[in-house]
Order: sequence, then C-alpha cells, then structure tokens
Amino acid sequence: MRKLVAVLAGAAVIAGSALAENGQAVFQQNGCAGCHQPTVDTVGPSLKKIAQAYAGKKDELVAFLKGATKPMVDPAKAPMMMPQLNRTKSLPKEKLEALADYILSHK
Ligand code: HEC
Repeated sequence: MRKLVAVLAGAAVIAGSALAENGQAVFQQNGCAGCHQPTVDTVGPSLKKIAQAYAGKKDELVAFLKGATKPMVDPAKAPMMMPQLNRTKSLPKEKLEALADYILSHK
C-alpha cells in the first residue's frame, strides 16, 4: 500500500511538470513571449515579477487571464496588456491552468 502511494505521488509530480511544459507552449503560441521574458522586464514585466505578485494566488491569475480581475503588477501599462486577454479569455480551462502554472513556475 505504501508503495502504491509513493507511485501515485510520483505520477502526480510528473503530471505537474508536464502541465507547466504544456503551459510554455500555450505561452509561446499566443505571442506572450514577445513582451514577457523569464527574468528581465522588457515591454512587459518579467515572468518572475508576475510570479512573485501572484505567488499562492493561482486562482486570481487565472481570473485575470479571463478578464475577470484588474491588473496589479504594473497598472499604468495595462492598456498594452488588456487586448491580449481577448486571446486568453477564450482558452479552455485546462490551457489557462497550464499557462498559470507555467507563469508561476518562474518565482
Ligand atoms: C504587447 C505586449 C504584451 C503581450 C503580447 C502580452 N503582454 Fe502581458 N503584460 C504586458 C504589459 C505592458 C504588462 C504590465 C501591465 C499589467 O500589469 O497589466 C503585462 C502584464 C501581464 C500580467 C500581469 C497582470 C497584472 O495583474 O498586472 C500577466 C499575468 C500577463 N501580462 C500575461 C500575459 C500572457 C499570458 C500573454 C499572452 C497571451 C501576454 N501577457 C502577452 C504586455 C504584454
């Protein structure tokens, strides 16, 4: 029984990292990488900065990507970010979650 639990826990870890990887694909396919770099601020804040602002708040990050909450990282530049939400809003839930996991993996 203990062995089974260990195997299941291992599978969950693998599934978790596969999800973050999938999130990277969603990130690239939707042109997010053009304005967001992993660690340096460019046109948009770095993924690290976003991950720190949303640490432990995955649900809020998903809500932001659905256009349901207000920006909190750099609101003065939000006019550049808000049109991007037209792309993320229509993504299926599992893609949005994978995208959020990918962003949050940068803290
Ligand atoms: C044209 C440039 C540009 C593109 C493309 C872009 N962003 Fe942004 N993004 C910004 C800027 C500028 C900000 C800072 C304003 C803000 O905080 O909303 C930002 C902020 C954010 C934030 C922080 C929101 C907050 O609470 O402040 C998230 C999350 C984010 N972007 C995700 C994405 C994702 C996912 C994509 C791809 C679908 C994307 N961005 C594409 C420019 C861009």
